[in-house]
Amino acid sequence: MSGPQQKKSFAVTTSHRPSKATIDLAKHFAKKLGVPFVERNDLSQKALADTLKVRGLVVVSANRVSYFEGGREFFFHPGLASLRIKELKNGKTDQMIKAMSLIPGDYVLDCTLGLGSDAIVASYVAGVEGRITGLEDSSVIAALVQHGLANYPAPEKDLALAMRRVRVININHKEYLAGLAPQSYDIVYFDPMFRIPRCHSPAIDSIRPLANPHPLDRETIDLALKVAARRVVMKERRGSTEFQRLGFHRIEGGKYAPVVYGVIERKRL
Ligand SMILES: C[S@@+](CC[C@H](N)C(=O)[O-])C[C@H]1O[C@@H](n2cnc3c(N)ncnc32)[C@H](O)[C@@H]1O
Repeated sequence: MSGPQQKKSFAVTTSHRPSKATIDLAKHFAKKLGVPFVERNDLSQKALADTLKVRGLVVVSANRVSYFEGGREFFFHPGLASLRIKELKNGKTDQMIKAMSLIPGDYVLDCTLGLGSDAIVASYVAGVEGRITGLEDSSVIAALVQHGLANYPAPEKDLALAMRRVRVININHKEYLAGLAPQSYDIVYFDPMFRIPRCHSPAIDSIRPLANPHPLDRETIDLALKVAARRVVMKERRGSTEFQRLGFHRIEGGKYAPVVYGVIERKRL
C-alpha cells in the first residue's frame, strides 16, 4: 500500500464522553487499522494530536466515524450518489453509467473506490444480480467507507440497498488486478486522483490527505484489459493528456461537462 497515511502517523479516539458502544467501535477501528486506541480525556483534537505527535485522528462518535487532519474532516456520506440515483429513476442519463454501458446483472470492479459515490450508483444499476467490488489503497478511507456503506441510515430504500451491496477491499488495484482470472468482471473502472485537481471538489478535498495520489500506468491498464470482459473506463478532466498516455482514444460524456470518460472496449482489441 502506498497512500500517504501508511506512515501510520495517526491514532483512533472517541468523541467526548463516549458510550461503551462508541469505545468498542473505536477499539475495533484501531485494531483493524493497526494503530493505537487512545482515550479522549477531554482534550481537544489538536491537543490530543500534538500530545501523540500524530498528523491525524480517527474520531468515533455516536453517529459517525471521521478522520481529521489539518482542519479537514473526512467521513462517509452517499453524497451525489443519492441525487444521481434520483435522476436515473426520473429517466435522466448518467454519463458514467452510459460510458460503462452498465446493465442489470453486470459485474463491476471499481479500482478507485474513494468515497464510494460512483460504486453506489453502479451498484444501483447492476442490481441484486450484479456485483460491485471497490478497491481502495488507503486503509483509513477503505475502513470508513466500508463502515459507512454497511451502516449509513439512508432513508431511500434503493440507495440503502445499493450501498449495502458494495464489497470493499483495502488493496492497491494493480496487485489485485494481477491476481484475477481473465474476464472476471464485465467492466473495470478507474477514477484516479486527477493530475490537475478541480477547484471546487469539497468531497475529494476531504480525502486528499489520505488518498493515493499516483498516476495510473500502462501496465495497470493492460491488466485491467485482461480482467474486463467488456470495457475499461477511466474518468478524468476533459482534455487531460492522461487519456492518450494510457491508450484511451474514445472519450464519452456530456458535451460541456468538465469531467469525461475514456473508454476502451475489449472486443475491439
Ligand atoms: C478520485 S478518488 C475516487 C472517487 C470515487 N470514484 C467516488 O465516487 O467517490 C480516487 C481514490 O482512488 C484511490 N486510489 C488511487 N490509486 C489507487 C490504487 N493504486 N489502488 C487502490 N486505490 C487507489 C485513492 O486513494 C482515492 O481514494
